Parts: sequence; C-alpha cells; structure tokens
Amino acid sequence: MNHPEENVDETTSKEEEDNLAYFLDFNPPKEDFLNDVLEGLSKDQKSLPPKYFYDAKGSALFDQICETDEYYVTRTELSLLEDVGDDVGRLSGAECNIIEYGSGSSNKIRLLLDQLSEPSEYAAIDISKEHLLRSANSLAKDYPAISVGAICADFLQPIELPEYVGQGDGAFLGFFPGSTIGNFSSAEALGFLTSAHSLLSEQGSLLIGVDLKKDTAVLESAYNDADGVTAQFNLNILTRINRELGAEIDESGFEHVARYNKEHGRIEMHLRSKQDQQISIASHLFEVAEGETIHTENSKKYAVEEFVDLAEKAGFESNRVWTDSDELFSLHYLKAA
Ligand code: AVJ
Repeated sequence: MNHPEENVDETTSKEEEDNLAYFLDFNPPKEDFLNDVLEGLSKDQKSLPPKYFYDAKGSALFDQICETDEYYVTRTELSLLEDVGDDVGRLSGAECNIIEYGSGSSNKIRLLLDQLSEPSEYAAIDISKEHLLRSANSLAKDYPAISVGAICADFLQPIELPEYVGQGDGAFLGFFPGSTIGNFSSAEALGFLTSAHSLLSEQGSLLIGVDLKKDTAVLESAYNDADGVTAQFNLNILTRINRELGAEIDESGFEHVARYNKEHGRIEMHLRSKQDQQISIASHLFEVAEGETIHTENSKKYAVEEFVDLAEKAGFESNRVWTDSDELFSLHYLKAA
C-alpha cells in the first residue's frame, strides 16, 4: 500500500504547480529501483520491470514510438476514442470524476473531455513525475472548468485516494488507455482490475484500451520500427541504471530484440548481450553470456472474449466493446456494478 506524502518537489517551479488542484507524490524511493534491478538480474532468466523505462528520456522516446508508422496502437486507439466519445459520455453521465491510469502526455483524455458531459474532475496518475506535472498543468490551463490533480504513483500498487478526490456530483470514470494492462502478468492484471473495481465503487465504470491478437508480422514490426526508436527506448533502461544506480554497463554490448511469443500471446522485449560480459551494480557482479537476454517487457495481446472473462473475474460487468474495422484494437466499457 502506498503512503501519501504530500510534498511538492523542489525542482518543480511554483509556476508549474499553480494550475493543479493537488499533487500527490507516492513516488517509490530509489532503493526500490536498486532492489528491483538486483532481484531481476539474479534470476535464471534475467529481467527488469518495464515501469523503469519511463524516466524523462524514456517517456519522450515512448511518445516518439507512438508517432512511428509501425506502431498502430496509439493512432488506432485515438481514432476509436474520437468515434465512441459520445457513447462514453452518455454511459458515464454528467459531472463525472475521471481517474486516468498512466496518463503520460495526457493527450488521449483531451479527446474524451471534449465529448463528455461537463466532467467535474480529472486525476492523472503516472510514474514519471516531471512528465506528469508538465502534462497535467498544461491540461489544467486548457480546461479551466475542470478540477485537475496529479498523482505520481506506480499503479500496480493499490492506491488509496484522499477524500477530496472525486467531489463531482457524477460517478467515477476510470480511464486506462494504451493497452498498458498488457504489461501485466495475468495475476497482476487481475489484481489491478480488482483494486480499480473497488476504487471506482458501485456507480463507477472503467474505460480501458486493450490491444488485440493479430498477425505476428504486424505485431513484430510494431515493436521493431525501422528508425530504431523502440530499440533506443529498450536500451535506455540501461542508461538509466548507469546514471541512477552508478553502474557502468556498456549499452553497445546489448541489442534490442522483440518477438511474438505465440504460446503466451504476447510480444516480449529483451536486451541481448552481444558478448560475454560482466555488469557491476552497487558492488554486485552479474555474469552475462553472449546471446543471453535480459527480459524487459511483455505486451500481452487479448482476444475480446479473453479480456471480458478477466474483467468479470475482477467483478466488472462488460457493458460495451468497440473495435476498429481492422480489429487491431479494442476499447472496453466496464461497469463496476
Ligand atoms: C505503453 C505498455 C502499452 O506495450 O505497446 C511500446 C510500451 N513498448 N513499444 C506497449 C511499448 C515498446 C507499450 N505500452
């Protein structure tokens, strides 16, 4: 459970804070990063948690991935949101309190805000603090009628919201776009949905973007863009470890690998070692053999029914499902009822 600490980061100028109704910093301490890295690299299949991709550089690279021709995910979801916003507005009702999980640049919510009926509040949750503050502030400036708050947190941990969140007369509307749920194992996804279900309470609902199973070639090219942006994004996690944990890993000793694991229905990203090497982090030494990989991300793809089953296990009721005409991506409207 996260413990709220309402501290305003000193590196953030007052001016930047001014538009927000509140800023909650649940940001995990640096020891968590070190412990997670050491734990991941100690496993037989070395791994690193994908949430650590999103330092300032990683968040910017992710935004760049969304602009590549190969990464169909973002543009497909954006155009779906444009089409279904009206329906979502009718389903969620007037003066709703929106909570977005993984708000990133807060671009997608703008499409929705324009189509909802007088939304009261918008709470942006993201793990990348500077990016979050910048995006939430600029959104608050553009939507003066909406009370905008920012919460820096890892939403894989259950989040306890203070009472002043959700004061609008309408219901809660959770928004979890981008198929970020695909990063979670099935146990984590069920845990996330279960805690979202209890947070949104009876009248609430969740609008969630879920990437669909499809042709392997299409999937693999989305994670192997020709300009190598995804490769940079993947390798940047090593740069972050070097900078924040004082390691000296040679990034050029690793290469980006992304392939579809059909059995598990997921894209797996790895960093493959080009040679036998040792990496040392905080006086811990790890041997990496040539060809050995560090598993950095899963991006699970769901069939529509498969996701509905999961949501129902978490207590949700499937109210509507929209997909694009090419059946690349789905948006699910789940009632907490
Ligand atoms: C933000 C987790 C949805 O899995 O497609 C994009 C991250 N990784 N390219 C995804 C990502 C490589 C993305 N999510």
